[in-house]
Amino acid sequence: MTRVLSCIQPTGDVHLGNYLGALRNWVAGQHEKDVFHGIVDLHALTITDAPGVVGETTVDLAAWLFAIGLDPQVATVFVQSHVAEHSQLAWIMECTVSYGELSRMTQFKDKSAKREGDFISAGLFTYPALMAADILLYDAQEVPVGDDQRQHVEITRDVAIRFNSRFGDTFVIPKAVMPAAGARVMDLQDPTSKMSKSAESDAGLVRMSDDPKVVAKKFKRAVTDSESEVRYDRAAKPGVSNLLDILSACTGESPETLATRYTQYGPLKTDTGDAVVALLEPIQRRHRELLDDRGELTRLLRVGAERAGTVAAATLQRAYDAIGLLPR
Ligand code: TRP
Repeated sequence: MTRVLSCIQPTGDVHLGNYLGALRNWVAGQHEKDVFHGIVDLHALTITDAPGVVGETTVDLAAWLFAIGLDPQVATVFVQSHVAEHSQLAWIMECTVSYGELSRMTQFKDKSAKREGDFISAGLFTYPALMAADILLYDAQEVPVGDDQRQHVEITRDVAIRFNSRFGDTFVIPKAVMPAAGARVMDLQDPTSKMSKSAESDAGLVRMSDDPKVVAKKFKRAVTDSESEVRYDRAAKPGVSNLLDILSACTGESPETLATRYTQYGPLKTDTGDAVVALLEPIQRRHRELLDDRGELTRLLRVGAERAGTVAAATLQRAYDAIGLLPR
């Protein structure tokens, strides 16, 4: 079975765009491929936070992943820092990648430029080495990533090929694949921008944890346009089309079909809000249950760490042996 690795950083609140756009497909995909899902808390350290914050966002994200239906018996869901081999292989990767290669990473250039004058950790620079370790430890054949992460998968390939040619066949050469297409959820207040936790206004962002009343209100206030015709046309009518896309993601009917049922924006907004509330309700309930039972959550994450750790330890040992480090 194809081995797939997807990872997500525990930074901030999970929102409807994350769920409908990506996470929901993780759930569907768990039965098709051998999937490993890492909550990459060490990656989140490249940008410093107050003590305790990363741990809390990690546990919250883990609860969402199980709440949406990832089955710990099927998918391997683990926390990166629970599997020490990530840090260990990352060092080997740092010694296999070059300074020049890391300097060419556009994400580093963008992020460090934005932080100019601020603290720029060396980790922000060496981050692709840790990501390469994440991928190579699991012999991942496929890594579903968006465009912003493709370059990091490419560098992983280059580094794996270099290591294999220096030390002999050790790593599976991964490839970046397009994630299964989910809904493209736009900001409710600015429907030409993707819904994002860094949005300027909170009103355009639907958090997975939002109370039903808050969800309904955000949809009622969603930006549409000055016409009054309900029509699916992303370019000309981004706001209305976003609502239709979200409703479609909830109901499974096509946005074009849904559009024919409405003559006014009001009912479309109400119905979309209601559909999202109904979709979120059982997920929110399970999320709360898990957070109220940290023991259970810890147990589920131990199952994942155990399975991930077994694979990771074998790969790390293979790399050490290939290099010819002195066995202990
Ligand atoms: N860098 C990715 C991001 O910011 C997260 C990530 C870390 C990742 N390690 C990974 C993604 C390994 C895929 C595979 O989104």
